[in-house]
Amino acid sequence: MKILGIESSCDETAATLLEVNNNRFKLLNNVVFSQIEIHKKYGGVVPEVAARAHVEAIIPVIKEALGKTKPDLISITKGPGLITSLAVGVQAAKTLSYALKLPLVGVNHLEGHLWSFLLNKEKKFFLSQIELPAVALIVSGGHTELILVKGIGKYKLIGQTLDDAAGEAFDKVAKMMELGYPGGPIIAHFAKTGDKDRINFPRPMLHSDNFDFSFSGLKTSVKYHLRDMAPTGSFSQTFIKDVCASFQASVIDVLVAKTLQATEKFKAKSVILGGGVSANEELIKSLQLKTDEQNLDFYYPERWLTGDNAAMIALAGYFNKQKSSKTVWKKLDAEANLRLTK
Ligand code: KG4
Ligand code: ZN
Repeated sequence: MKILGIESSCDETAATLLEVNNNRFKLLNNVVFSQIEIHKKYGGVVPEVAARAHVEAIIPVIKEALGKTKPDLISITKGPGLITSLAVGVQAAKTLSYALKLPLVGVNHLEGHLWSFLLNKEKKFFLSQIELPAVALIVSGGHTELILVKGIGKYKLIGQTLDDAAGEAFDKVAKMMELGYPGGPIIAHFAKTGDKDRINFPRPMLHSDNFDFSFSGLKTSVKYHLRDMAPTGSFSQTFIKDVCASFQASVIDVLVAKTLQATEKFKAKSVILGGGVSANEELIKSLQLKTDEQNLDFYYPERWLTGDNAAMIALAGYFNKQKSSKTVWKKLDAEANLRLTK
């Protein structure tokens, strides 16, 4: 079957045509229009600006993904995300479903991030090979969640951030040093040649006896460090690199430690990584090392699948196709705070 996936939850307008045969996935077309250039000058995503850009991009992006194909199913991100952004994709998907009499299914954006590793081009994983239960770490600009995965649709939230998301912390720290937006890839770049042991930033919640995270205090520590060490606000390149490396190490230490603690507690056999921050090579290296030590399987998406895309939404739609119908459009609404787990 051929699935049209549509994604518009934040600042990427995306559409994908995914072919699925016997649980084998083939991407026929994958179109992503990123609004990063538009939001750069504001140092973050401006919801009103994002919604307008989605309105302009959504039809051309869907047209390009579809070509002349009539899909068998439409899958749309229902939430979570910015309500004004989500609404554009949902409206487009509902209209297409009605006009073309196609079954429609609304899916959770985080379920897309969770399974996105299955779409890897090189390492052809199959769902049936994944040893369950797994602990999934979903880290993006809006989310930091640890989820116990017992199967498709069988998810339990075991921990989440109490304040800033991991990606948000990267973005805010980059902003403090005026390094640009989005901060994650920039900090990761500077960190490569920095000394991660130079500054001992706190490892928040490392020893708390739950699986929750908090990055707001770490962000404040960086702020005070910048104020104390460089009161004039001008930083040397070496100083910036060391701050980036030390900050990144602190975030990674906490993410990895909590993930591994969760695998132990819940006797998980695999670790799954997903979301925009899963583009971070040091995070991947660290999780690879620790999961190897514990004899756990480790799955993470290829870099091009880490950010928001519609391929993962088409995939989530395939997994939820039993919930689709030709009349879903009558009752489908965007939900900004849609939850993946109970
Ligand atoms: O999943 P995503 O594209 O959008 C959301 O659903 O939020 O994630 C974007 C986030 C941004 O905060 C960005 O700074 C972060 O992912 N990010 C990274 C890296 N690449 C992107 N964070 C750390 N290291 C990276 N290499
Ligand atoms: Zn996302």
